[in-house]
Amino acid sequence: MPNPCTYVIFGATGNLSRVKLMPALYHLEAAGKLTDDTRIIAVGRRDWDDAYCRGQAREWISARARGDLDEALFDRFAARLAYFRADITDAGAYGRLRSLFDERADLPANIAFYMAISPAEFGIVAQQLSDAGLLAEDRGWRRVVIEKPFGYDLDSARALQRRISNYLAEEQIYRIDHYLGKGTVQNVLVFRFANTMMEPLWNRNYIDHIQITHSEKLGVDTRAAFYDSAGAMRDMIQSHLLQLLTLVAMEPPAAMDSESLRDEKVKVLKSVRPIPAKAVSAHAFRAQYTGGVVDGENVPGYLQEDNVPGDSITETYAALKLYIDNWRWRDVPFYLRTGKRMAEGQSMVSICFRHPPQQFFRGTQYHQMRQNWVVLGIQPAECLRVEMTVKEPGLEMKTRQTSLDASLRRTDEVQTDAYEELLLDIIEGDRSLFLRYDEVEYAWRVVDPVLKVWATERDFIQTYPAGSWGPKDSRRLFETESQHWRHSLDPEQA
Ligand code: BG6
Repeated sequence: MPNPCTYVIFGATGNLSRVKLMPALYHLEAAGKLTDDTRIIAVGRRDWDDAYCRGQAREWISARARGDLDEALFDRFAARLAYFRADITDAGAYGRLRSLFDERADLPANIAFYMAISPAEFGIVAQQLSDAGLLAEDRGWRRVVIEKPFGYDLDSARALQRRISNYLAEEQIYRIDHYLGKGTVQNVLVFRFANTMMEPLWNRNYIDHIQITHSEKLGVDTRAAFYDSAGAMRDMIQSHLLQLLTLVAMEPPAAMDSESLRDEKVKVLKSVRPIPAKAVSAHAFRAQYTGGVVDGENVPGYLQEDNVPGDSITETYAALKLYIDNWRWRDVPFYLRTGKRMAEGQSMVSICFRHPPQQFFRGTQYHQMRQNWVVLGIQPAECLRVEMTVKEPGLEMKTRQTSLDASLRRTDEVQTDAYEELLLDIIEGDRSLFLRYDEVEYAWRVVDPVLKVWATERDFIQTYPAGSWGPKDSRRLFETESQHWRHSLDPEQA
């Protein structure tokens, strides 16, 4: 059982808290993972009190809970929850928070501060917490959880790091990338390092290229103000997709502790071949959605969304070709791709193996041997498939693709949300699934040259209709004619 702790959530009335944090904490309650004395302080600017906050939490959790809300369980959860009204820019609020801890004997002395707030406020909140003496570890531990994006580019990430490290030791900082809490993402490591069959094949001798795709049917929804200043490269590729790339490409770590694991991830990022400014258009592609049809409904284009400036050239689709210059991966292209308002919502890693060296079945009905793929479905399907070519039954030499399916979850096993795992790791002090600063810095170094060039080319952006797979022109990233975007888990539709 983890230590008792007080979770203080800044931005508790906001979107992240509603959609992810409160439901995840409730599910941890249901799983019996919270000690009896664990408490949650929801900090927000709105004029709420405890009762109103609990009522809101009930609505948010009902909308997201697995199955129906269990009233008795929710009452237990609600009894842990208190509302603390505060404007995080007001220095006096932190003194009041300090007094609350002094006055309420039932609040566990270990405190996790969760910053579910705008990235621009991370620095000032850390400073105010420190000034109020709330970060001193004299009575129990203090941990600060920071959501992405960590900075806006390389320089701002460095500045933020310099600032928060005045108040916090690296061991106290939990930089979250929620992709690392997803079951199949962690399964990448198990698949690679717990099965001897795969490891000998996992290199440039057998692999043609690797694709990492995250597509969404959703548009920018209510987040346009944030999204328009970020774009797909910062929002998804710099963080989640590069994290996936490190897990797929890393060497086996010396041990599975958090430092050994993160050392290996950083080595991958350090080995990514830098993209020179003049090569940006050969390595990176961006586009923006126009109006279209998603799930049979007409949806507006990005420029017509609320709070998006009419002349915005922010990309809602981004693709990137990377090479990792080490012995294992030299010259194997990694294609990373993400987009909003695409044809399907899914995340997957697709590993395409080389063609067999000889085409044995020439002259038969099957002229071109298909390549083998290993496909790791991250969402919505959590699966792991190894595709093989087999002969069709019958008199003719015809083949088809079949896949050996090692699905992650049996139908009777529940699907937990990434935040459940991560919120628990914070209480347990396990930092393996959180980003160390050097990981963030090297991830920015990968995308920074592209962002710099894009920032100067502001006259034009390609478009794609909502509900499509993005512009055909993105094919120009491929190294050979035979490579193509893989859109589906199904080998026949791939
Ligand atoms: C977030 C991005 O980090 O991840 C969002 O800011 C994106 O734009 C989301 O939609 C995707 O997460 P998931 O878990 O829904 O795949």
